Amino acid sequence: MPGRGLAVSFVWLSLTAIVWRYRPLHWVPTHSFTSSIYWTLRSWLWNYPITPDFGIWVVGDTTDRQRFFKEKARTRLIWTFLELYFAQRGYNLYVSSEESTYVVLPARRMIDPRELSYPYAQYCCNDERELEFICSAARVWPARDADGRDVVIKYGVFHSIIFMLFILKGGIDGWSHCVQCDFVTVAEIIRYARAYFETVAFLHENNITHGDILLQNMCMDVLMPQPFLERYYTGYHTSERRYVLIDFEGAEIHTGPGPYSLEFQNSRKRDIYLLADSLGVNLRCIEHVIPRIGRLLDSMMAEDSEVTATTALFRFEEICSGLTMEDLNLAVAAHQFSHGKLQYRQNPPVNQPVLGLN
Ligand SMILES: *[C@@H]1O[C@H](CO)[C@@H](O)[C@H](O)[C@H]1NC(C)=O
Repeated sequence: MPGRGLAVSFVWLSLTAIVWRYRPLHWVPTHSFTSSIYWTLRSWLWNYPITPDFGIWVVGDTTDRQRFFKEKARTRLIWTFLELYFAQRGYNLYVSSEESTYVVLPARRMIDPRELSYPYAQYCCNDERELEFICSAARVWPARDADGRDVVIKYGVFHSIIFMLFILKGGIDGWSHCVQCDFVTVAEIIRYARAYFETVAFLHENNITHGDILLQNMCMDVLMPQPFLERYYTGYHTSERRYVLIDFEGAEIHTGPGPYSLEFQNSRKRDIYLLADSLGVNLRCIEHVIPRIGRLLDSMMAEDSEVTATTALFRFEEICSGLTMEDLNLAVAAHQFSHGKLQYRQNPPVNQPVLGLN
């Protein structure tokens, strides 16, 4: 019966028109036409999780708990939607943890980053779960490439074109803080302190200040378990360790000739003060071996201090030059100097301490 066939076609056509009216297809431009068709259809099926509108990442404030968690789940779904897109390009996305709204973990199928070598950071986790990443910002998500390197992907929009920015997570951003690993010998503390005395002297001699020499901006090339609790890791401050100063957002640059601005001079002073304060956390643990170190730090932190980074470095070297091999090999008893006194470990270190020069 041709009439019936016509009626069925008509119903289909109407249904399509209705769907089209309320659920139109939004074209998703990608690198190729077939891929665009695929992603356009997939986006339609998933109810358009990603658009150039920045508003898709807004989760609202935490006071409205119910709404907040609903929105958080929605933004997480965007990353689940994109999982395939990145997988096709060699990046495996981390997966959400069941226990927390914020925590994401490496997926099981990923390459073990232990295989990586220089210039990648040394890996010192026992379990991949220790590398957890806290996604407090909705627009960022970690991933691992086919070689086992971690990256952080950040969503961005520029002239209504969606782009993804990749930041190397195993690179400096993911490096741990120097004080996260325990110093075992006098030599380890001196080597670490020297690196920063030299760095600041170099910067100041080139008319650059850092402005924020805090422990959180002093990192080393080791990937540590996160979050870091009362656990002690030893044997990582070897002679191969690389120490860096990060976050130059507050830096001042003086372009001579001509006198230094007041801001520059104050920033330089602040560098000297904070350098002594930050390094003091460990240097004050070896004051019994090098009593003069305490006086050097105090002179750098005095209100009217005239100590420059170059003289500080010079005096530090002078103080250390008198040390014998025996002094350098001495084990450090205190773990840190904080709250005005020496602090000792609450538990034994997680791994065996390596004594002696390394
Ligand atoms: C730093 O600034 C001073 C004063 O303006 C200038 O004399 C000196 O040449 C500058 N040093 C460098 C390395 O640019």
